[in-house]
Amino acid sequence: PKMFASARAHTNIALIKYWGKKDQKLILPYTDSLSLTLNEFYTTTSVQFDEQLTHDEFSINAEPVSEHNQQKLAHFMDLIRNQRQFNLFAHVNSVNHVPISAGLASSSSAFAALAAAASKAAELNLSATELSRLARRGSGSATRSIFGGLVEWHKGHDDKTSFASPIDEQVDFGLEMIAILIDTSVKKVSSRSGMQNVVATSPYYPAWQEVVKNDMVAMKAAILKKDINLIGQIAEENAMRMHALTLSAQPSFTYFNAASLTAMDMIHDLRSNGINCYYTLDAGPNVKVIYHHQDREVILAALSEQFGHNNLVVSQPGPGIQYLK
Ligand code: DP6
Repeated sequence: PKMFASARAHTNIALIKYWGKKDQKLILPYTDSLSLTLNEFYTTTSVQFDEQLTHDEFSINAEPVSEHNQQKLAHFMDLIRNQRQFNLFAHVNSVNHVPISAGLASSSSAFAALAAAASKAAELNLSATELSRLARRGSGSATRSIFGGLVEWHKGHDDKTSFASPIDEQVDFGLEMIAILIDTSVKKVSSRSGMQNVVATSPYYPAWQEVVKNDMVAMKAAILKKDINLIGQIAEENAMRMHALTLSAQPSFTYFNAASLTAMDMIHDLRSNGINCYYTLDAGPNVKVIYHHQDREVILAALSEQFGHNNLVVSQPGPGIQYLK
């Protein structure tokens, strides 16, 4: 038997953030969330089950993985073994494709590609919804990377009901993102522990859940209207409110650094000069700019003075899961 498969998944960036788990083990979030899958950042993973193996063997970018990642990944492979009801281990090789070698290869593309390749190699025949649920068990944001374009993750209330679905897989109205690579080293506070701390200690967490409820409705209306300014405005506000949670946690922390603030300032300046652009940030200092592709050159010109052209990566909306031959 072959028991081999290879799959590619693209990274997604949330426009309405997921920040907090109701169930740590199943990765059930407190809120819905909504993202854009990106074309420029992706992970390709191949899985070969092998009767000779006594444990899973993982490599990322042709390097062995850390003990911590080994455990996390083996735990994920156990889910596949349980569903398939066999006890085979696998060779798992994962390669992150990013325009610049470090950073921004996120857990979203990694676990989406692994879920797809491993379930296919194990011949589980999952639907896209089932695949989304499986990817969720590896990392929350991976739930959304099964689909292309604009995607929403329905928080649900149990393993069955928490999955993503596409809102607009073929985004054709000029929506684009620039990632400003400010610092591509490993983040100091992982999203996993950062959100746990926030849920446990921020007095604003209940307000955040209300914010997301409203933002989801407003964002979906903005997408229907193909209104990039409204999309950007809602995304920026939502991101700032997420980051206000980290500042209001105990102990307080932030993912921003001085350069992130400079970038945010520059976006405000561009805006007051009539260029419509907005920003969002995740669990690190890199800033992502949201705009219409017609404004790309003006924005790149302004930002490259400060950050250098090589640290700016333009990305179009990207596709969902792809199986490779
Ligand atoms: C800020 O999906 O990385 O990017 O579920 O613990 O693996 P785990 O967290 P992760 O968190 C993503 C947080 C975020 C917002 C988002 O992608 O929605």
